[in-house]
Order: sequence, then structure tokens, then C-alpha cells
Amino acid sequence: MIQEISVFDYAGKVLEQIDKGIFLTTKYQDTVNTMTIGWGGVVVIWGRPLFLVLVRDSRATYELIEKSNEFTVSIPLNNQLARELAICGTKSLREVDKFKACGLTAREGRKIATPIIGEAGLHYECKVIYKLPLDQAVVPLAVKNRYYHHNANHTVYYGEIQDQYIVEGGE
Ligand SMILES: Cc1cc2nc3c(=O)[nH]c(=O)nc-3n(C[C@H](O)[C@H](O)[C@H](O)COP(=O)(O)O)c2cc1C
Repeated sequence: MIQEISVFDYAGKVLEQIDKGIFLTTKYQDTVNTMTIGWGGVVVIWGRPLFLVLVRDSRATYELIEKSNEFTVSIPLNNQLARELAICGTKSLREVDKFKACGLTAREGRKIATPIIGEAGLHYECKVIYKLPLDQAVVPLAVKNRYYHHNANHTVYYGEIQDQYIVEGGE
């Protein structure tokens, strides 16, 4: 069963959980993947509700989202799925099918082709309407040293929220 919600009802819950990780799911043609993200959230820009996510260009997810221009975000509501979030935050699609490894279900979305994580409670379906690779020339030095010294750059994806709901029985 699906519980309908308004777009900002659970924005606080997103911020509460994102520190522990939430699922960012992408699909292009027959390839489906999910990874854990810890940065992002629901914001309003240009008078529209958006879900912002940041993806390093070294991720398999980056290749998929660049081609599909859409994504879903799935959020455990009760502090669950910690083991799955740990695996999806450390393993890449390039080494393992994380759905199989974690026993996660790719459940069909309602408005876009990308599925949601069936085991999680709260879901957002998003279409990328803008993206911005970080300009390292203006990133604060302390941030640069900490996050980009050895690592690939992040692109910020602005996902216009197409749908949001709770899957009852999800964690
Ligand atoms: C708690 C947590 C938060 C993370 N947040 C992000 C993030 O916001 N952006 C990002 O690019 N990677 C993030 N990662 C790392 C990716 O989840 C990880 O590199 C993953 O294996 C990439 O999978 P992929 O190559 O299949 O896309 C995070 C990892 C953890 C454990």
C-alpha cells in the first residue's frame, strides 16, 4: 500500500536520516544501480521543490545518471537497513550487483523509469533539470584538502521532484 504525502512533509526526516545514509537509485536501459549518499536534501529553487544530490564522477552511478537524467531517493524511516546502506556505500556496481548482494528489491516507480528500493519507507522520484560540477577554483581550501585532495570531483544534480510517497510496510 502507498501512503500519499505532500512534498515537504518529510523533508526533516530526510535530513535526520541522510547523515546515516540514504539510497540514490539510477537506471539506464537495463542497468539498475543504487548507492548510499550522505549529502543533499529537499530544497526550493526557482519556485520548485528539488532534491539535490552530489555524485562524484568516479562512481558507476555518475555514468548512469549522466545518461538517464533521472533518479530516485529512498529513505529508511525507522533507522533500518544499516547493513544494506553500508554495503551500497562501499561496493560499486563495477564489482557487484548490490540488489542481489543485499537482497534489495527494485520496485517500479510511479512517474519515472527508475525504480525505488522496495524495502525502504519514504521515496522521491526526480528528473534532473540542472547540474553543476563543483568549481574547485572556488571551493574553500579546507574543504578541498579534506574532500578533493585525492578524490574525484562532485557534480550537484538538481532533481525536480515528480512524486513522493511512503510504501507502507517499508522500513
Ligand atoms: C554514509 C555514506 C555516504 C556517502 N555519500 C556519498 C555522496 O553523497 N556522494 C557520493 O558520490 N558518494 C557517496 N558515498 C560513497 C558511495 O556510496 C560509494 O562510493 C559507492 O560504492 C558508489 O557506488 P557505485 O560505483 O555503484 O555508484 C557515500 C558512502 C557512505 C558510506
